[in-house]
Amino acid sequence: MPDKDYQLKVLISREEIKNTVVRLAKEIKKDYRGKQPLLIGILKGSFVFMADLTRQLDLPMEIDFIKLSSYGAATKSSGKVKVVQGLKTPIKGRDVLVIEDIVDTGLTISFLLNYLRRKKPASLKLCVLTDKPSHRKTSVSIDYLGFTLPDKFIVGYGLDLNEKFRNLPDICVLEDDESS
Ligand code: PRP
Repeated sequence: MPDKDYQLKVLISREEIKNTVVRLAKEIKKDYRGKQPLLIGILKGSFVFMADLTRQLDLPMEIDFIKLSSYGAATKSSGKVKVVQGLKTPIKGRDVLVIEDIVDTGLTISFLLNYLRRKKPASLKLCVLTDKPSHRKTSVSIDYLGFTLPDKFIVGYGLDLNEKFRNLPDICVLEDDESS
């Protein structure tokens, strides 16, 4: 698609993100002391959050990723979730902590939690950086939450629009540039 001009407005700065990642890591460390959790990041959006969070967690741990797809090249969820790339690690009997960048309708994470629950982990918890509860289609219980956000389309810090803007260090609201 041809590049369009957008106005990017910082909604959550890199400093605020850093402070929140440190706060979440403290909460997680307290709960997982003496355990060896398996952290599962949902690709692609969680890759930046996962990298920052795990470096704040001085716990013995393992890391795996799963790739799910629901949005395609659109800004609204199709509601259909598929596993595009599965886990490499068996999770039966493990303390599993899922790491997600954003919960919007909740359909993606609900699908994943049900999928993982069937594999009988010892425990299953959810850490989410950003929550947009206004579009929720199914209830989701979040154990560790960074930010609750208004109903705006956001990019940056792993979040994309048509695969762009994932590398922005801040979380930004994206608005059409009316003048272009
Ligand atoms: C995004 C995001 C979540 C999901 C949340 O993923 O990373 O996984 O949407 O939306 P929901 O709560 O409405 O289901 P996306 O499918 O855009 O893929 P990506 O992570 O590769 O960007």
